Amino acid sequence: MSIPAFADIWSHLERATRERSPFNFLSLASLGLDGSPQLRTIVLRAADGKAGTLHFVTDFRSPKIAEIGRDPRVALTGYDPVRNGQIRMSGVARLVEDEIVRKALWDRLRGGTRTLFEAPYPPGTPLTEDGAGPADPAFRPEEGDLYDRFAPVEITLSHLEWLDLAATPHLRCRYGRTAAGWASSRLSP
Ligand SMILES: Cc1cc2nc3c(=O)[nH]c(=O)nc-3n(C[C@H](O)[C@H](O)[C@H](O)COP(=O)(O)O)c2cc1C
Repeated sequence: MSIPAFADIWSHLERATRERSPFNFLSLASLGLDGSPQLRTIVLRAADGKAGTLHFVTDFRSPKIAEIGRDPRVALTGYDPVRNGQIRMSGVARLVEDEIVRKALWDRLRGGTRTLFEAPYPPGTPLTEDGAGPADPAFRPEEGDLYDRFAPVEITLSHLEWLDLAATPHLRCRYGRTAAGWASSRLSP
């Protein structure tokens, strides 16, 4: 398989927001509050090839929100085992505050996903062995509207790479955002 056209890479990403795809889930790296790398899986919720943006959603109380607030630089990667291809991206993340976009992303969530926002404690709160609640009484269950906890995040990509391990020799192509559009270059794999 050869390196797909730039538009084809985006169509893989866009399809992954609607149907089963290896890119339904991406690994997202941010910089921890102490500067250390932080990595976790997220669901890709929206991809816009024209704007070069991706969206995922999270709980406003999750540590990644504070991390992005301190330093918005993020990186993502995904792997397609059928094509034996890796996608690797980087850019800057920001909270979506536009209420129309926010509501549209909320409306697309399934009921089961919305219940994730019912958690009375912020993600990462230490719990007792039985998981009943925090041993530390300083942590109190939080009440609040689920929608208020809903934090969609937009990532504006600056770089995108495709690595094709099915090709002989392996192929690696990098796309960088410029004032005139996306500039492509071939890299040694
Ligand atoms: C398959 C899978 C999909 C996930 N999708 C999301 C997601 O879309 N948003 C999210 O905030 N966390 C998601 N998580 C949980 C995160 O990986 C992570 O554990 C959680 O958000 C806390 O991350 P943080 O402490 O870095 O903020 C997912 C986990 C798995 C295993």
